[in-house]
Amino acid sequence: MFDKQVYVNRRLNLRKKIRSGLILIPGNSESPMNYPSNTYRFRQDSNFLYFFGVDHPGFVGVIDIEDGKDCLYGNDFELDDIIWMGPQPTVNELGQKVGIPCTHPMKDLASTLQRAIRNGRKIHFLPQYRSENIIMLERLIGIHPSLISKYASVELIKAIVSLRSIKAPEEIAELDKAADVGYLMHTTNMRLAKPGITEQELVGAVEGVAIGKGYMPSFPIILSQNGETLHNHDHSQVLTSGRMLITDAGAEIGSHYASDFTRAFPVNGKFTEKQKGIYNIVLNTINKSIELCKPGVTYQSIHLEAAKVITAGLKDLGIMKGDVNEAVANGAHAMFFPHGLGHMMGLDVHDMEDLGEDYVGYDDEISRIDQFGTAFLRLGRRLQTGFVLTVEPGIYFVPALIEKWKNEKINSSFINYDKAEEYIGFGGIRLEDDVLITEKGCRLLGSKRIPITVEEIEAIVGKG
Ligand code: GLY
Ligand code: MN
Repeated sequence: MFDKQVYVNRRLNLRKKIRSGLILIPGNSESPMNYPSNTYRFRQDSNFLYFFGVDHPGFVGVIDIEDGKDCLYGNDFELDDIIWMGPQPTVNELGQKVGIPCTHPMKDLASTLQRAIRNGRKIHFLPQYRSENIIMLERLIGIHPSLISKYASVELIKAIVSLRSIKAPEEIAELDKAADVGYLMHTTNMRLAKPGITEQELVGAVEGVAIGKGYMPSFPIILSQNGETLHNHDHSQVLTSGRMLITDAGAEIGSHYASDFTRAFPVNGKFTEKQKGIYNIVLNTINKSIELCKPGVTYQSIHLEAAKVITAGLKDLGIMKGDVNEAVANGAHAMFFPHGLGHMMGLDVHDMEDLGEDYVGYDDEISRIDQFGTAFLRLGRRLQTGFVLTVEPGIYFVPALIEKWKNEKINSSFINYDKAEEYIGFGGIRLEDDVLITEKGCRLLGSKRIPITVEEIEAIVGKG
């Protein structure tokens, strides 16, 4: 938890952006796995965490714009609970820590909201992703669960996106820490990887780095020799010499700030010429993209530049052909790079995605390009100082996609299908780093870059 003034200031900044009414932000409750008292690891809602800081289940925060008061609703534990859980802070003690002297038991929330509704006041709430909170909102303000997203306050969504998009120094310090844990996760993976070990053993070791520090992965780890499947959570294979391994993993530290990195390397620690050829195109692409990151530039334009570097590299290898700019304008690169260059990151690894990708990544000026591949770009708008985002280009050989495009002659003037087919079974390569946009450009998060050049990779993989 940050100093209480951080939360006081965040709520003051939010107040300045909302004209009138009540802002209602539910925190998360415990989520049972298989019976009520056997719960998943608790994860607080990130918006609640950002404005109210309390990392415990069962709270709701209310900001009253007109009367200037912020209140926290929650129930104190009873002796029966304390016997099982040990001493617990009271709601009022928690409120004091985040600058909220106004605390109430949860039963008082309904009457506060009903009074506001009777007085014709607007209640601002956000889109909800947990059914318990959807049902709670229905009970409190009478909106049918199917309509909660529709009636979510766009004014509140836009206000929160504008605040959370710009990371403050205390947040950047946490993001640097999360990146350092990500570094340890990936270098552990690289050292342990060798033919004969299973993907699942590596997942255990990588996750163990985060868990051993009391943290957790920022999303379920992606670790597979079948890197052509973008989010592959099957870890059942034994590592086999000659194959590439992709690992996409990051940490969520105690403050819940995240990191997200991807590396790919040969299982036996030595690149073949064919692997090196594709790998170095992706390496050039990530480096060029990071070079381009600075305030005022749209991330959409950087995504398209990345697509050009990939296309030019694949052309050099004879896999693509024709004019590079034309190929990218026609979306031909998306056969090999079928996803976006990156996303915002912060308290969520895909930051604020619960509020709506288009509100986070696009605006009145830059809208999503509706073309296969580029359509999946989560962040397109102009970069600003204080944004934190991922840069994650990749090249993949997806058999089903190659077959479909070849049969339908899609972009056949830009793709040498016979050559592309020689790479079926190659897998995929993605490289991902996390960057902070600074006044003059950007910098990588974390104190050291995870090994990334061919030489750095070959020096660490399998070295125990
Ligand atoms: N690292 C997983 C993702 O960005 O979707
Ligand atoms: Mn990512």
